[in-house]
Amino acid sequence: MKLISIAGARPNFIKLASIADAIERYNNNKPAYYTNNIEHIIVHTGQHYDHKMSKSFFDELGIPKPAINLEVGSGTHAQQSAEIMKRFEKVLLNEMPDVLLVVGDVNSTIACALVAAKIQYPADHALKRPIIVHVEAGLRSFDREMPEEINRILTDSLSDLLFVTEESAIGNLQKEGCKSEKVHFVGNVMIDTLKRHLQKAKKSRIADELHVNAPFGLITLHRPSNVDHLYLLKSLVECFVEISNSLKLVFPIHPRTKHNLDKFGIMPLLEDAHNITLLDPLGYLDFLSLINQATVLLTDSGGIQEETTYLGVPCITLRKNTERPVTVIEGTNYLIGTDTSKIFETVSLILKGKGKDARIPKYWDGNAGDRIIKILVETFYQELSQ
Ligand code: UD1
Ligand code: UDP
Repeated sequence: MKLISIAGARPNFIKLASIADAIERYNNNKPAYYTNNIEHIIVHTGQHYDHKMSKSFFDELGIPKPAINLEVGSGTHAQQSAEIMKRFEKVLLNEMPDVLLVVGDVNSTIACALVAAKIQYPADHALKRPIIVHVEAGLRSFDREMPEEINRILTDSLSDLLFVTEESAIGNLQKEGCKSEKVHFVGNVMIDTLKRHLQKAKKSRIADELHVNAPFGLITLHRPSNVDHLYLLKSLVECFVEISNSLKLVFPIHPRTKHNLDKFGIMPLLEDAHNITLLDPLGYLDFLSLINQATVLLTDSGGIQEETTYLGVPCITLRKNTERPVTVIEGTNYLIGTDTSKIFETVSLILKGKGKDARIPKYWDGNAGDRIIKILVETFYQELSQ
């Protein structure tokens, strides 16, 4: 089986690490009746390209070097998606993989799935087009102003196999008319990677280097709905400054946010706050080390809502909705939005130790990647035999 997997943006690399590991394990220990290895080709679209947003993850997580980098870089949604599609079509026709595996909900995910759904292999090929596999399928925020929601819905509707992280996703896909045999509840590849690297992350000296001891809060912010508008970004920054009067804060700043903080002239508010440590984006192990030691996360990230739930660290999500409801229902996530009085209230509740009881969601056990590869191989051989 020849499998192309797509990685474009930061959270993709963390998910891909689990898939790449699982493929390697399969190749080394596959059942005797499957004679062939999986040939794994990683295609990096180049959506994220700074060292700290891309290569550092490959290095730290031991992900094989991408065979191909489409080097699309940044642009508007249409420019970026179209450029990925144009460049990826050539790769697909050249490689003609049996499987295209996409993860998450970024522009690279939908762009490559769309190319694969319409490609036509020559008549003598065993398949008409690659089997399209979506890992982290079925998540819905029900907010179509969020670009990722469009990407999720479209990618799922194009995919042949849908691997889901939580039960809500099964219901969402059913309601959209997806055939149940396509959907598999396998757990969470992001948690696979976390589990596999937690011991290493615990050895990171980042907290000492930053002179940060618990209690402290860790911030990440990058959703366009929060950072692309002067008024809201300023109000969130003022809220962080206020919180920093009673809690040390650490803020590794995403490039989109850095750009806007500079453009709107808000950066000095943060720079002048003595109790906020501002950083470039951190590598995976350092960031995981900080999450694990933090008293609270303040974030609008998707993946961090899951990582905090797994680690039992309270997470205040600065959004009005989440596509990951299990983190609120079973986990440590508080869906608070951007109302600053609610943010203060929740921080002080957490500082008083009145956080909620939480449990680790079903199948978030480190084995999602292996489940995916097993089901994928079985499906592939069934498809070939038809
Ligand atoms: C993207 C994803 C988002 C994901 C996030 C993870 C889409 C629509 N959005 O958002 O779902 O949560 O990645 O971090 O796919 N930039 C750099 N260096 C880089 C990458 C980006 O400077 O390596 C800057 C550029 O100015 C760029 C901006 O960040 O225009 C935004 O990058 P982009 O990939 O378009 O979207 P993200 O906000 O990163
Ligand atoms: N992350 C990281 N360094 C940082 C911030 C985040 O390694 O400075 C990791 C984080 O632990 C998680 C992933 O990046 O694994 C989440 O990516 P992001 O928030 O950019 O995207 P989202 O999950 O919102 O799509």
